[in-house]
Amino acid sequence: MQGDPTYLVVENDKTLATYGINAVCTHLGCVVPWNKAENKFLCPCHGSQYNYQGKVVRGPAPLSLALAHADIDEGKVIFVPWAETDFRTGDAPWWS
Ligand code: FES
Repeated sequence: MQGDPTYLVVENDKTLATYGINAVCTHLGCVVPWNKAENKFLCPCHGSQYNYQGKVVRGPAPLSLALAHADIDEGKVIFVPWAETDFRTGDAPWWS
């Protein structure tokens, strides 16, 4: 997790979301790019799809993308490990 590419999320009101989304596919670890036209993250390796919150919507990926807290510290974004419930699924985080 540390050092993994992580997406910042801009909310509809243009503010920064308080969470970031880990870009590493939960299938076999490809980096998953955002597809603006589809409004989803689409994995180029085997076609897994994740919604704008990183929640898995199509396999083969078994799990949603990992979350991190995105905190602002003196004007810089820092990612802090997310140990709480995954708000997308209501489950404990699989990544911690
Ligand atoms: Fe992403 Fe296989 S690594 S779908």
